Amino acid sequence: MKLNKHWLNQLPKLELHLHLEGSLEPELMFALAKRNQINLPFTSIEAVREAYEFNNLQDFLDIYYQGANVLLHEDDFYDLTWAYLEQCHAQNVIHVEPFFDPQTHTDRGVPFATVINGISRALMDGEAQLGISSELIMCFLRHLDEEAAFATLAMAEPFLDKIIAVGLDSSEDGNPPEKFSRVFAKARELGLLTVAHAGEEGPAEYVWTAIKDLQVSRIDHGVRSVEDAELIRHLAATRMPLTVCPLSNTKLCVFDDMAKHNILEMLEQGVCVTVNSDDPAYFGGYMTENFIALADGLGLQREQALKLVSNSIAASFADVDRKQAMQLLIEQFEDEH
Ligand code: HPA
Ligand code: ZN
Repeated sequence: MKLNKHWLNQLPKLELHLHLEGSLEPELMFALAKRNQINLPFTSIEAVREAYEFNNLQDFLDIYYQGANVLLHEDDFYDLTWAYLEQCHAQNVIHVEPFFDPQTHTDRGVPFATVINGISRALMDGEAQLGISSELIMCFLRHLDEEAAFATLAMAEPFLDKIIAVGLDSSEDGNPPEKFSRVFAKARELGLLTVAHAGEEGPAEYVWTAIKDLQVSRIDHGVRSVEDAELIRHLAATRMPLTVCPLSNTKLCVFDDMAKHNILEMLEQGVCVTVNSDDPAYFGGYMTENFIALADGLGLQREQALKLVSNSIAASFADVDRKQAMQLLIEQFEDEH
């Protein structure tokens, strides 16, 4: 039986792979452009949505960095984050660990403090007013050099109480994890956890080097791991989580069809896979839409959906008490629905 959309929306969910800049809806992009007197290269909201046809990751990144230009002031970062949290609330997302890309903003002259203070204030309000717990992850842009990543980490040092981990995003091919071994080592010395995008467009080898050289706690995407049987056995044996993003993968042509997605195959192989939305404003959906896409394209079953959410709890950076409380919520939901 096909899973019901209402059931999928009501299912308590967690999101561990979400770029805040990728949650910028065209409506808010236009509102911020007006507020900040910035000219957009689009004539209407519809024209923005029509431009969201991508053949690969780089096609998307070009338009994603352009969209972020409307973010200038602390309130802009607050409004962006708050809009995302409202979407989460409407979809029963109870815990989030968003990424932000400071270099996209500091390279335009926006102070690091402006970015992080706006985001953190919204996350605190999200916890107090919506009951959504959160942890924040700072990503380095891998198409830029190691020196720029070190400079970003230095900017973050006064704000380490607001950041749980560092991550690695942007153009994967040709920018292997080991390019950032030293800056990740420094981040770990400072007490931060680490994650990295690997095996989205890049090879399975990048998943290995993210694990070995960056000592990550999770792999973001990781869908190309299936090309290496030994890697899949290693991921399953160590319960290394993969934050998989189904709609992102089809929008960026990592898979040409959701029916060909490998998330459930990896789930059956014992890999700790999780469902996430990546850049929902660009890829056609938030958490519920990603679960619906799996139900429609792959025939996702109830037990699999519950397992995917339990995996997210295990994979999250929430403390033990919060993890227990979230697991109880899932069990209660299971009993009642
Ligand atoms: N991959 C790499 N970089 C990104 C992504 C992604 O899916 N989304 C935003 N930046
Ligand atoms: Zn991503």
